[in-house]
Amino acid sequence: ISLEVSTSGGNASSLLMYGFMFEDINHSGDGGLYGQMLQNNGLQGGDPDLTAWGTVGDATIAIDYDNPLSSAIPQSLRLNVPSDATGTVGVTNAGYWGIPVDGSEHQTYFWVKGNLFGDITASLVGNGTGIVYGSTSIPVTSTADNFTYIEASLSTTKAPDGDVFYELSLDASAVAGSSLYFGLVQLFPTTYKSRYNGLQPRIANVLEAVEASFLRFPGGNNMEGESLDNRWKWNETIGDVQDRPGRMGTWTYYNTDGLGLAEYFYWCEDMGLTPLLAVWDGFALESGAGTPVTGDALAPYIEDVLNELEYILGDSSTTYGAIRAANGQTDPWDLTMVEIGNEDMLGGGCDTYAERFTAFYDAIHAAYPDLTLIASTNEQSCLPSSMPDGSMVDYHDYNSPDGLVSQFNYFDNVSRNVTYLVGEYAQTGSDYPIMQGSVGEAVFMIGMERNSDLIKMASYAPLLQLTNSTQWTPNLIPFTQSPNVVIETTSYYVQQMFASNLGDTVKEVNSDSAFGPVYWVASSAGDSSYFVKLANYGSDAQDLSVTINGTTTAKLTVVGDDDANAANTVDETPVAPVESTLTASDGTFTFILPAWSVAVLAAS
Ligand code: AHR
Repeated sequence: ISLEVSTSGGNASSLLMYGFMFEDINHSGDGGLYGQMLQNNGLQGGDPDLTAWGTVGDATIAIDYDNPLSSAIPQSLRLNVPSDATGTVGVTNAGYWGIPVDGSEHQTYFWVKGNLFGDITASLVGNGTGIVYGSTSIPVTSTADNFTYIEASLSTTKAPDGDVFYELSLDASAVAGSSLYFGLVQLFPTTYKSRYNGLQPRIANVLEAVEASFLRFPGGNNMEGESLDNRWKWNETIGDVQDRPGRMGTWTYYNTDGLGLAEYFYWCEDMGLTPLLAVWDGFALESGAGTPVTGDALAPYIEDVLNELEYILGDSSTTYGAIRAANGQTDPWDLTMVEIGNEDMLGGGCDTYAERFTAFYDAIHAAYPDLTLIASTNEQSCLPSSMPDGSMVDYHDYNSPDGLVSQFNYFDNVSRNVTYLVGEYAQTGSDYPIMQGSVGEAVFMIGMERNSDLIKMASYAPLLQLTNSTQWTPNLIPFTQSPNVVIETTSYYVQQMFASNLGDTVKEVNSDSAFGPVYWVASSAGDSSYFVKLANYGSDAQDLSVTINGTTTAKLTVVGDDDANAANTVDETPVAPVESTLTASDGTFTFILPAWSVAVLAAS
């Protein structure tokens, strides 16, 4: 197959092309990217239990409702110590199926109530082995009248895996015959960029290496909520964590909302991502049969979104901007894009979306005319008959590997009146991304990049998965604590290769072959750097010859496997990208594109 990349002309392409979509699914937030590592740490939820908690020594534990930590966290963990107790007593927490101690300085925070004048020891201990990976003794003076706030650092040594538990212990004689109450016990490693209440570095570092451009948050179905009342409520995710009640998420588990609105903006700031905020638009899932809020009843929800936007964008003289400043962020955040709802073409959403979109659009646009507003579907039958100038639509495509390939031409043939976010796409049909599916995704992405006058942004979904608690497969980055692994899947490598080799101009390519099984797109950055992205969706290797006049050397990165089903999993990671340096002969590079592979030729 011979390709010749034009070195002149071309169409401007989107520099925001490859981003992330994040919602708390598969414990991607709590137990995943959010740095706090203790599970059920505030005993939150309508009907809390003692999941993850245990005892040390001759003592018992219970959920206590008479000693609430705050109005948002209306219960505490009671440690009952019998009057004849001896030795050491305390509480343990098993984390989210383990605690991956990374050897960094850890921070623990908790509140304690009860009469105590003595030391509490916070430790990280190997399950079964008793090996202590970090421990600190904290002098505590506490009374039965109020909760006393404790914070302490633990120097740690790296544990070989996450089969570790957290322990708070003390001498039984100091509290025999009484009870101690613990509120919202927290444990953080040194977080990504050392941010307070920040991100788990082992996962954040893997995300950073993608060189993605934007973050779409906070959902997804998790933003919509199963019912109107348990939609994602921005104002319950801000301020001190002890004032965040959390909520039952859409994906079957309770969300602490410790990873809240501000933390999303700090994530963007720390990783160089452009934020794309999705707002609730009157439609909750109700198991797919939602009855949307319409007409005058929408007014309070529109008002709520305007308040949210003032919290983000208003200066500190505004009502909500002042609350943000009081919460520690003086300057407004940099938000330029807002999506109205999520997947409003589904369930009962479509019939009323034109009305709801218009109502939210008009109110937001009047207050913030510079914001780009995005409809949550591209389905014409759900949208107003004409879309406002400058607005965008969102298209989602979860598909089989073959289905993704069949979508290669999809964007060649859609109306060019409105630009696109492809807010969610991925292969389906396997537990982990498989190589064939990752090539299928690359074919679909090449189709998008070829149309990047139209497709401005695209994000794979779901992004993260704690393999111990999974509601959706496959995911871009699976991880678990024990063994302590964060998996770079075949699809992860494709995202990374495409995102980190992004040109500013899509170039014409002349070829001697039609598309299939090999697909390509070429772009340039500045005057002398070129990127040629290639996908071989077939079981035969292909000989390639790529001519880019004036170039002399190239880095070729290839990820592929002869086995279409090859997958990087928690158990094995057989696939990794291979890099080589090529020298051109008269501007022509020749190389072999292996079976089931994706490649980027970066030439200059
Ligand atoms: O990514 C998983 C789910 O797929 C998202 O929450 C939803 O938007 C889509 O249906």
